[in-house]
Amino acid sequence: MSMGQAPVDPTSTAAWPRLAALAGELEPDLRRWFVEDPSRAERLTHEVGDLRVDLSKNLVDDAVLGALVDLARAVGLEERRDAMLRGERINVTEDRAVLHTALRQPRGASLHVDGQDVVADVHEVLDRVYAFAEQVRSGEWTGVTGKQIETVVNIGIGGSDLGPVMAYEALQPFADGPACRFLSNIDPTDAALTLRGLDPETTLFVVSSKTFGTLETLTNARLCRTWLLDGLPESVRSEAVARHFVAVSTALDKVADFGIDPENAFGFWDWVGGRYSLDSAIGTSLVLAIGPAAFSELLAGMHAVDEHFRTTPLESNVPALMGLINVWYVDLLGARTHAVLPYAQLLHRFPAYLQQLTMESNGKSVRWDGSPVTAGTGEVFWGEPGTNGQHAFYQLLHQGTQVVPCDFIAFAAPSYPLVDGEQDVHELLLANFLAQSQALAFGKSAEEVRAEGTAEQIVPARVFAGNRPSTSIMAPRLTPSVLGQLVALYEHITFTQGVVWGIDSFDQWGVELGKQLATRLGPVLAGDADALADQDPSTRALVAYYREHRS
Ligand code: F6P
Repeated sequence: MSMGQAPVDPTSTAAWPRLAALAGELEPDLRRWFVEDPSRAERLTHEVGDLRVDLSKNLVDDAVLGALVDLARAVGLEERRDAMLRGERINVTEDRAVLHTALRQPRGASLHVDGQDVVADVHEVLDRVYAFAEQVRSGEWTGVTGKQIETVVNIGIGGSDLGPVMAYEALQPFADGPACRFLSNIDPTDAALTLRGLDPETTLFVVSSKTFGTLETLTNARLCRTWLLDGLPESVRSEAVARHFVAVSTALDKVADFGIDPENAFGFWDWVGGRYSLDSAIGTSLVLAIGPAAFSELLAGMHAVDEHFRTTPLESNVPALMGLINVWYVDLLGARTHAVLPYAQLLHRFPAYLQQLTMESNGKSVRWDGSPVTAGTGEVFWGEPGTNGQHAFYQLLHQGTQVVPCDFIAFAAPSYPLVDGEQDVHELLLANFLAQSQALAFGKSAEEVRAEGTAEQIVPARVFAGNRPSTSIMAPRLTPSVLGQLVALYEHITFTQGVVWGIDSFDQWGVELGKQLATRLGPVLAGDADALADQDPSTRALVAYYREHRS
């Protein structure tokens, strides 16, 4: 398939009307399905790397899964996957290859794109990042006054923030280097609070920006540079930026313009999308925190899932199946959102990370050839760790009027084993993990509610309809490798959905207009009367309010 060709319209495939018919006749009854098919749990549980993925509590049967796989074949999922892995320019609107999978190819592998071995390039940069991290972690690299680096501040936003901060939090048990803080927001409060209590002499800044043109990141980098210089003795200021600032970017010329020594800059390539860049040099702060060995394990975990995605037939290809089931929910069963519910406090930023991955990738209304999409796309991903979410929004999951597919994630071994008297507290967590998917799937009938002696008038309020879909993902424990596997799993789920919908999952034009307008509104806020007059009445009134109340 040529990547410039029109995508296959999923609704024009033979599988689509079959799916529509199956959706129309669907009478979900997970209780009965499990009784009638005692092997359902086993048959619908798959393994990918260390991940055990139980799909059995989804509203699918063999006919639905068969039709979804046929749909995937008809839209050319396998061909497009292979084209991506080969380095074809499947990011059509930006005319770029999409090669985040090359970032985790093992040393010695090779992949030639435009005559260049990109895997060799990847390892050359990784080696530089690792060598730098070892210097900082060992104390050989010091601040300008000779003190060891104690805190790393990653300055970046979007993909240059969410991946590193998510992984830093997730891998706290493996963090044995300097502490990291993450500065992203243009709100000056973020800079003020991130820098609060830090010592300029022992702080290292990693300015992470693919383009090195992002307003938030460059503004925050300048604020930090000023803070650093103001906090150091005058005698060392001229050398300070070189010792306290490093950069990660594809635009190394702009890094130099900012005043950062190119020796202290780590590059990557335009074929790495921001939201797919955790495993590039964008992970430098993470490498500083957990060390090169643990980061290599993260990469190996990602590669294992890439290999599964590349080689496993669609019938048991876990990311493909999960992506296809998501399409089933969005387009055939009317789901608009998807909850990701880690029963692991360490994954507390995982849903936020996934929001960029999934929604910046698949929140699109046109296909890669510019024609309108033919089916609903891009469900809203959201979530919070269990059990906190249970005491907040699970009410809607259990008894609301919407279909909300849920992904539950848990680990057999605790990262921090603690007991409360005789009680293993991790078992309390896992009991809740199991209970929630059970309650969603199997519910509680009116008869069961009545049998508990409930007054008749409140029986309806206490009934749980059940048949609310979920996937349960488990792994032995949360290690760097397992985190890498989870990230790659969701990357390929996202890709699968994008291919079915025919969209370019690797551009993000939808973020541009707001950036342009913000640039124009800067002078308006600063008092430019002519620019204010050009604004709409709502904006003019909001600016007037600002003027009146800014003290
Ligand atoms: O505005 C969206 C975006 O372009 C994301 O795709 C990207 O991850 C983020 O901004 C940050 O971009 P950069 O790494 O170039 O600063």
